[in-house]
Amino acid sequence: MLPDIGPTIPGVTASASATQAPSIAARAVSRRFGDRQALREVSFEALPGELVAIIGPNGAGKTTLLSILGGLQKPSGGEVSRPPREVGWVPQQTAIYAKLTVRENLKLFARLEKVDDPAGAVERALELTGLHGRADDVLSELSGGNRQRVNIAVGLLADPPVLLLDEPSSALDPRQRERLWAFITGLVEGGRTTVLWSTHDVGEAERHADRVLVLADGELLFTGSPAALHAEVGGVQRDFEAAFVRFLHKRGH
Ligand SMILES: Nc1ncnc2c1ncn2[C@@H]1O[C@H](COP(=O)(O)OP(=O)(O)O)[C@@H](O)[C@H]1O
Ligand SMILES: [Mg+2]
Repeated sequence: MLPDIGPTIPGVTASASATQAPSIAARAVSRRFGDRQALREVSFEALPGELVAIIGPNGAGKTTLLSILGGLQKPSGGEVSRPPREVGWVPQQTAIYAKLTVRENLKLFARLEKVDDPAGAVERALELTGLHGRADDVLSELSGGNRQRVNIAVGLLADPPVLLLDEPSSALDPRQRERLWAFITGLVEGGRTTVLWSTHDVGEAERHADRVLVLADGELLFTGSPAALHAEVGGVQRDFEAAFVRFLHKRGH
């Protein structure tokens, strides 16, 4: 975990990031779908080794923001500091093939994504996700937790400095979640990888995030540590979830 850098006004550089170049930054990213404004000039920075949670109600724009950071869709305005090939993407809906083995799936995606040295990339992704022992198992025989690991392994094939996960834990049971978090925490240790993930589970954000981004109706309402969000709400709140709901209410959502 990184030291608490306190609350920041969206778009304004935090003191800690003044000394360290961001791993990825969004600058005034907007996205329109017809009349619907899904994102409104969202700006933030994430540092190397940081775990960043994107939290917000349904339809807040979480998936849209992640998919723009990953280059899956273009913003209507604004820009992202990193090219998509340097950003790994783990979608909520898996694209892996149930009838193929773990290794066959990874080889297929390594070819589709045109990574350098596909065989080496597959072995590294197996190693990183602890899937070596399962490499020859057919996907349909794996538990939900292990399928999710394969999904993450696909996102890691190109050895990206930034990994994005869209609601990675929503289909997992508590023990599988625990393993997922042990794995993700290991991934960011040493500061090589930055992980951004979206979640409905604000308790998970409180436990694991160095920084939370609160999105509501396409607007970035807060960026800072979970403790800073608590402090921003003030008073005595039952827990982080209560503080989060109170915060949204205070901001008119
Ligand atoms: N491809 C699309 N076409 C039209 N509207 C979309 C599309 N994708 C997302 N939206 C709209 O943009 C808003 C944000 O969606 P989304 O990013 O999926 O939110 P979240 O992931 O926070 O639930 C929603 O109102 C959603 O209906
Ligand atoms: Mg979503």
